[in-house]
Amino acid sequence: MLKVEGLSGGYGDVQILWDVNIEIQEGAITALVGANGVGKTTLIRTLAGALTPYTGKIIYAGEDITGLSQPKRAGAGIMMVPEGRQLYSGLPVEDNLMMGAYVRKDRRAVKDDLEWVYSVLPRLKERRKQLAGTLSGGEAQMCAVGRGLMAAPRLLMLDELSLGLAPVVVDALIGVLKDIQAKKNISILLVDQDVQVALGIAEKGYVFVHGHVELSGDSKILLENPEIQKAYLGL
Ligand SMILES: Nc1ncnc2c1ncn2[C@@H]1O[C@H](COP(=O)(O)OP(=O)(O)OP(=O)(O)O)[C@@H](O)[C@H]1O
Ligand SMILES: [Mg+2]
Repeated sequence: MLKVEGLSGGYGDVQILWDVNIEIQEGAITALVGANGVGKTTLIRTLAGALTPYTGKIIYAGEDITGLSQPKRAGAGIMMVPEGRQLYSGLPVEDNLMMGAYVRKDRRAVKDDLEWVYSVLPRLKERRKQLAGTLSGGEAQMCAVGRGLMAAPRLLMLDELSLGLAPVVVDALIGVLKDIQAKKNISILLVDQDVQVALGIAEKGYVFVHGHVELSGDSKILLENPEIQKAYLGL
């Protein structure tokens, strides 16, 4: 579904990503984990088209999309749920959800998807008229995920899904993601501070150190790796 080859990038003169190679399988959940500041968000933003890489290639569904703009990538089904949620706080939940569908022209399908998002995240339906700025942390995260889903993504990239959320809310969101993955065949790239959570639900994982992939493979095997247990799980 997505293949990243020899990607380097960053912010002006400040190089963050160094020769990144990753592959995201269609319909699978892939985890990207690593310590603070190693470049996870930078990679997601580069894949979404918000940042231009210095070198390397991004291949999506067999096509080179390295030069494609963010709206065009969104139109092709690549969507990110940004870190820190970034909702429009002065707008109601429903308007925030509809923002996710701004590039879509299939208005009828958008309406159906809104009902579908409300069915998988019923709390949002209850609160659809509430201003996003007054939502609880968990509700705001649900709203951000819902907005991502409104884009009818083929590849949904979630940056810090569990940040600041109670374990029960994280479990609920993970349940929703697994359901979505199974029913809609959406590929998911999950970045999470909680390595146990991320590798626990993913099939495949990448461990990022200083802007490059240090380890990768089957996430269950990564979770049993003593180096990872020591560095990220405090075991
Ligand atoms: N706009 C920017 N200009 C310059 N440097 C930046 C910019 N945004 C981020 N950085 C730097 O890039 C590095 C990687 O940041 P990034 O946000 O990608 O890390 P991360 O792995 O997502 O970390 P975290 O787990 O804390 O979210 C950091 O050193 C950060 O300070
Ligand atoms: Mg980050």
